Amino acid sequence: MIEIPGPHGRAAVRAARAMLNRPADTIEELAASYGRTFAIHLGPTSIVVVGDRELVKVVLTGPQEQFRWGPVFKLPLGVFVGPTSMLVSDGDDHARRRALVQPAFALRRLQSWRTLIVDQLDEMIDELPMNEQVDLAPRLQTTIRRIVVRVLFGADLAAGADDIGERLAPAAEYLNRPMGKQIPHPFPWGARERARASRRSFDARLDAEIARRRAASPSDASDDVLDALLAADGLTERELRDQVVSLIGAGFDTTTASASWLVLRAAADPEVWTQLREEADGNERTGRYAEAVVHESLRIHPAGAYAPRLVAKSFALGPYRVRRGSAIAWSPLLTGRDPASWPDPMRFDPSRHLDGDEPEYAWVPFGAGSRSCLGFGLARLNLTLVASRLAQRVDLSPASREIPGVVGTVTGHPVGGVPVTVTARR
Ligand code: HEM
Repeated sequence: MIEIPGPHGRAAVRAARAMLNRPADTIEELAASYGRTFAIHLGPTSIVVVGDRELVKVVLTGPQEQFRWGPVFKLPLGVFVGPTSMLVSDGDDHARRRALVQPAFALRRLQSWRTLIVDQLDEMIDELPMNEQVDLAPRLQTTIRRIVVRVLFGADLAAGADDIGERLAPAAEYLNRPMGKQIPHPFPWGARERARASRRSFDARLDAEIARRRAASPSDASDDVLDALLAADGLTERELRDQVVSLIGAGFDTTTASASWLVLRAAADPEVWTQLREEADGNERTGRYAEAVVHESLRIHPAGAYAPRLVAKSFALGPYRVRRGSAIAWSPLLTGRDPASWPDPMRFDPSRHLDGDEPEYAWVPFGAGSRSCLGFGLARLNLTLVASRLAQRVDLSPASREIPGVVGTVTGHPVGGVPVTVTARR
């Protein structure tokens, strides 16, 4: 059996540390030396980074019983999402929890959220200072947080959206710190305790809302996710809370990071901006071009450089054997930037996606199969509307046309945010 290429010994320890702290850059650097699929060999175990699309397919569509999520995720994520979150569940527990949450994101509901998303974007655009440089990143962050909270909890809690976001902010911030600063400990101090306290404070708010809804008449039920989860009837109180927090955790920072890259890349190309605008002006409800722009941005800048699982049973990965106890990190960043699938991969060219013919598993920012992103439809709708609404209403000149570096350990944001000068639409 062929050994997976990659560093051993001290170089491997350095690589593992770098990967936890600066995943996007490290994965690309190591892939340049060892190829798109490589292993960081750490004695009896290894971290296997999978970036060849055929092998990503094997990971995502092969038997999922050979993997575990709980052991990889529970330590860093558990403090935030809780022990029954689907993100840290395995086997039947995962399948049951996922099946109960999935209907909350049905197409019919998604469409009902369109107006609220556009309203929130319009509010953000109305408040943009004109003719001066402004960092759009924090504004996109607040707006997306409001959208996600409204989608989850409905318009009634609209006024509480910022409050809810603020209650969870320390926990979310904790998770995106360099891993070396996330040492698990049970003591009541430091950033970890602030993360725990932020989760407790959120739970109190959520419990009050659940009690209010249970007391209300069924005819008051709305289109939000919380009502769908309450109606799902099958989740315990603890499970319900953990799934709600998981949705915020999985949905908010990923969409924010993606929106930042999207605006930076789309605004840097006047041709792209004009086409977005023309499509939006044309009153087309399904913006095919806007979708291609989002697709292209997610290809080059997926929110997560990799997604992990632990190998519970040895298995064949193409010519390699991956041993039990190894960690797998499959990488949408590597498949999305592979020149064999995408000629001149760093060139931002939405027209690549207009004919719909793409190499299989080369575009996987949301994963695929039984662990794929549950919020895929919501994220796509959100991002498409960010692109088309901004282009329809304003002109943006980015401060620089250089592609910035990446910051963040779970989600990758552009270093320096999204500095642009906003001017009235010409
Ligand atoms: C651009 C935005 C987003 C990106 C790039 C993204 C990406 C991903 C990825 C890569 C996975 C893991 C797949 C795997 O490990 O195989 C995932 C899982 C997940 N995502 Fe997203 N996501 C986004 C937005 C959202 C939103 C808006 C929500 C919900 C509000 C959401 C909810 C989830 C959930 C619940 C899972 C876990 C599914 C499971 O374990 O079965 N995501 N997402």
